[in-house]
Amino acid sequence: MASFRIRGGRPLEGRVAVQGSKNSALAILTAAALAVDGETTLENVPQYTDVLDLCQILRDLGAEVVWRAPGTLTVRGEGVSKSEAPYDLAKKLRGSTYIVGLLLARLGEARVAVPGGCNIGTRPIDFHLKGFRTLGAEVEVEHGQILARAQRLRGQKFFVDRSSVGTTINMMITASLAEGTTVLENAALEPEIVDLANFLGKLGVKVRGAGTPNIRIEGARRLTGQRHEIIPDRVVAGTYLMAGAITGGRVEVQQVIPEHLRTVGLKLSEAGAEIVEKEDSMGICSPRRLRGVDVQTGPHPGFATDLQQPFLTLMTLAEGVSVIQETVHDNRFGFVNELQRMGTNIRVDRDTAIVRGVEALTGAPVEAAELRGGVSLVLAGLAARGTTLVQGTHFIDRGYSNLEQTLQELGADIQRVE
Ligand code: EPU
Repeated sequence: MASFRIRGGRPLEGRVAVQGSKNSALAILTAAALAVDGETTLENVPQYTDVLDLCQILRDLGAEVVWRAPGTLTVRGEGVSKSEAPYDLAKKLRGSTYIVGLLLARLGEARVAVPGGCNIGTRPIDFHLKGFRTLGAEVEVEHGQILARAQRLRGQKFFVDRSSVGTTINMMITASLAEGTTVLENAALEPEIVDLANFLGKLGVKVRGAGTPNIRIEGARRLTGQRHEIIPDRVVAGTYLMAGAITGGRVEVQQVIPEHLRTVGLKLSEAGAEIVEKEDSMGICSPRRLRGVDVQTGPHPGFATDLQQPFLTLMTLAEGVSVIQETVHDNRFGFVNELQRMGTNIRVDRDTAIVRGVEALTGAPVEAAELRGGVSLVLAGLAARGTTLVQGTHFIDRGYSNLEQTLQELGADIQRVE
């Protein structure tokens, strides 16, 4: 198993160009296979392993998915003819539930493994299944697979429980080829939803209201491939800003949409960092020690849950106490056990972590068990005295590409070792 070996204590300095959003790419790649005419060209597609796995699933179903250059991918959906996704690949990623929506819309039938994804809570799929049923599908879960079948999908009104991001995406994909209009209420507001809506609009689906809680999707009969550029990954951008902050450095993330990072920027400013926002970049300049601030995660435009763990890690070295409440996922504090090995002072009580900042962390062997918790251990290692070994790089590769190279370019002493 590979690890990151980090010798901490160097302030990071420099600029990072951020790749496309993982969560947007997973939705848009799947949606691209809805089109039977022409070819879709996607730009700014990140080469994270979750995205590569989804490409492989789509190929297995009969789509043509080809990398034309780093970041540029073409998709032809015409050949999609198989209704069963490869079990071992599909079960690995949460985004594979979108394949159910795609296959229902295209073939009227789907067999897809119940997804795994990150180890951050129970993560049920009941809202998705309810959504498919509302549009007219019969759905069962048997022997580890979601089995869905529909003679005809018909647009309906649907209330999205907990403003679920994945359910909103899945309903948009499924409704794109349904008869009539689907109205989503309490839909998610995340930028990835707006990105998907813009893409579907180009393919020929009429989507109104994306970015508000009410989205209307008018199903189309046939869709045609188009060109689209995936939005930047706001979570990766936020991670590099926090890497700058935790090392008392100065980092600029480029090719980002600063509005998508506004809440994070505000919290970092509140903690004492200087944030400089430009048209398509955001910079941070951090003092040696930040102040502890409180954060509660929430659906967009609230503080993104995917940045809660890096922010909590930052607070382990801040002056004073910070209270971090996780309201989206039910177990996103598992990585705290590993952080404790590095000398942090954190108490977790159900959905809340109380972090008492310490003067310094010391490097230790630690183990990543999921994506964002894993990258947070890397951040802790960058700030710690001595050497940290973060095991489980494959979890981190799901959502960051060439993490060590990017951090090295910023001046970090980090290597990937077997
Ligand atoms: N939920 C259910 N039933 C469902 C669906 C969701 O109970 O059928 C619950 C979840 O367990 C969670 C809440 O509803 O407590 C919200 O989950 P949501 O559906 O919004 O999350 P998701 O679609 O599964 C996506 C991202 C996550 C990100 C969340 C929240 C993808 C592939 N994943 O997950 O990203 O944390 O939205 O913003 O888009 C990550 O990138 O590290 C990551 C975990």
